[in-house]
Amino acid sequence: MDQEISFNQVTHTYQADTPFAQNALDKVSLKIAPNSFTAIIGHTGSGKSTLVQHINALLKSTFGEIEVYGRQITPSTTNKNLKQLRKHVGMVFQFPEKQLFEESVIKDIMFGPKNYGASDADAEKSAVKAMKLVGLDASLRDQSPFDLSGGQMRRVAIAGVLAMNPEILILDEPTAGLDPHGHKEIMDLAQGLHDHRNMTIILVTHQMDDVVDYASDVIVMDRGQVVKHGTPSQIFADPKWVYKMHLDLPSSGEFATRLIRAGVPLEKTPLTIENLADEIVHLIQGGNHTDE
Ligand SMILES: Nc1ncnc2c1ncn2[C@@H]1O[C@H](COP(=O)(O)OP(=O)(O)O)[C@@H](O)[C@H]1O
Ligand SMILES: [Mg+2]
Repeated sequence: MDQEISFNQVTHTYQADTPFAQNALDKVSLKIAPNSFTAIIGHTGSGKSTLVQHINALLKSTFGEIEVYGRQITPSTTNKNLKQLRKHVGMVFQFPEKQLFEESVIKDIMFGPKNYGASDADAEKSAVKAMKLVGLDASLRDQSPFDLSGGQMRRVAIAGVLAMNPEILILDEPTAGLDPHGHKEIMDLAQGLHDHRNMTIILVTHQMDDVVDYASDVIVMDRGQVVKHGTPSQIFADPKWVYKMHLDLPSSGEFATRLIRAGVPLEKTPLTIENLADEIVHLIQGGNHTDE
């Protein structure tokens, strides 16, 4: 079975057949490799959230087919045929803590497995494991999720998705509104799930530093279309194009651009802080190196 995600000419029209009809996705074709860490970037309204919600068929295409790990989704696929697929594709929405509702942390995390027919004992086992995975202390299990900090609530929500043991994890702006510490915790969690559990990670983000620090592949969306798909270095190689897409460079690239404008002869735009430091060291040690 083909272990990949593929979109074939997928169009999604919101409010079709009304004067407000709008193509949020416009003939999108793409492939996401299994076990990749793919970042999806693009300015607000470019179609990122619409795109990812097609991967677990929360939204259905208006035209075009999607294939996820060998399962076809077409505009006419019925929900009955999607239950198994949805089990394999975990989806963490923006501000997922808004969807917490149970009276205790453990019950909230058990909800998914129970919904899929697990016994109380099995659901609890999965929930306890998921709490550990996201770094929630076991002592929190019987607390109300609403008494926790923002970062903890978000981890409860993510644990609820992980308790289903998905093979693909979609994170739609998972760090929005978190402080730097909470941000790093969530990103390191995503990296751990990718590196140690072989999960395919799909991350929608506005943070270009996360793209270069964590992603292996990048999809750039603009007005409902995929305009570039490549490695982080391919995507950020052309700063002018990045700005044209209303995106930022990673902070190392922003800094390097300013140095270059000020006449510092850097050879290329570095992707990470480490690369930038290396280039500057090279320049200083190279002494009389010039760009001519
Ligand atoms: N439920 C909806 N009804 C109508 N239009 C929508 C809906 N959700 C999103 N859109 C529109 O579809 C386009 C893509 O939105 P979205 O996928 O949310 O973009 P992004 O996640 O990149 O910000 C936008 O123009 C947005 O206004
Ligand atoms: Mg969005």
